[in-house]
Amino acid sequence: MRKVNLAVVGATGMVGRTFLKVLEERNLPIENFYVMASSRSAGNKLTFMGREYTVEELNEHSFDKPIDIALFSAGGTTSAKFAPVAAEHGCVVVDNSAQWRQDPKVPLIVPEVNPEDISWNSGIIANPNCSTIQAMVVLKPLDDKYKIKRVVYSTYQAVSGAGIAGWKDLENGLKGEAPKKFPHPIANNCLPHIDVFLENDYTKEEMKMIWETRKILHHPDMRVTATTVRVPVFSSHSESINIEFENPFDIKDVKELLAGAPGIVLQDDPAHDVYPLAVDAAGKDDVFVGRIRRDESVENGINLWVVADNIRKGAATNAVQIAELLIKSMN
Ligand SMILES: NC(=O)c1ccc[n+]([C@@H]2O[C@H](COP(=O)([O-])OP(=O)(O)OC[C@H]3O[C@@H](n4cnc5c(N)ncnc54)[C@H](OP(=O)(O)O)[C@@H]3O)[C@@H](O)[C@H]2O)c1
Repeated sequence: MRKVNLAVVGATGMVGRTFLKVLEERNLPIENFYVMASSRSAGNKLTFMGREYTVEELNEHSFDKPIDIALFSAGGTTSAKFAPVAAEHGCVVVDNSAQWRQDPKVPLIVPEVNPEDISWNSGIIANPNCSTIQAMVVLKPLDDKYKIKRVVYSTYQAVSGAGIAGWKDLENGLKGEAPKKFPHPIANNCLPHIDVFLENDYTKEEMKMIWETRKILHHPDMRVTATTVRVPVFSSHSESINIEFENPFDIKDVKELLAGAPGIVLQDDPAHDVYPLAVDAAGKDDVFVGRIRRDESVENGINLWVVADNIRKGAATNAVQIAELLIKSMN
């Protein structure tokens, strides 16, 4: 297999550091490796595959050298400015920010769901929002078989979804300190407020889940609504998902279908208190599903509980899987 030159942009951040871990674990065929961040971290050292790499400051010349793939996780403003620079130099950017996700010229990919969309990229591929990724892995097989009519998301999202600053707010808040990242204390609290409020009174996080679900599942008119909540948990997002189908189903078949679907681990044994938990999902790459039951208030509906590590499957692992698809397509 051909080896690639790969850069991680935002390598010192919460997601960036996990990129390095996941790249090592999955043993990607890398020839030359680069780590980039802002001037704040330039010159710092990061270890990858037993070797020390110096963090380079990201600038207009960063992609003058031949780089095949760049994994970006340095925020939307940085992506807006530098992803096109990388793409112009022939590099394919896999971007973790929300900057390009809605752009009709940019594919938005969850490898278990729509890997075929990689074929129409023109230098930038968007990695979906963390809370969307884990939901997609579950919704795809269900939509294929029973045709989804409507989805209601309610999320319980970890503080690590707000980066290192979010993590510190919970850590320091538990010691009684005032929050710096969130508008209210997150310790012993739940904040129904992730990202900014929009004109329709939804938060941007909620609208991301709605827009991205439609784009990834190729259902531009799917009826979707969401309430996204930050909870005092360090790692892993939990989601209650209510789904209404066009077609009738047998609940046993639904469980069997999900148990056999790629990327999913079924944890559904209420008699023995077995269901997905944030603490168990942390550090893993799978999406865990349980509490699967019929919604008795509608004709063809179900409720389920979906948990995944937001930094791994919700960010780094999904992006590295996209890089693997790219490498395959280059060979
Ligand atoms: N956390 C999550 O669950 C999650 C999930 C999916 C997507 N994302 C997205 O991933 C991105 C990073 O998130 P994070 O949680 O890793 O944040 P973070 O921990 O705050 O890290 C931010 C990273 O971006 C770098 N950076 C900031 N400004 C830069 C600039 N002007 N030029 C170059 N590098 C710059 C920082 O470098 P310095 O060390 O130099 O400051 C750092 O490496 C965001 O777009 C976020 O929305 C996060």
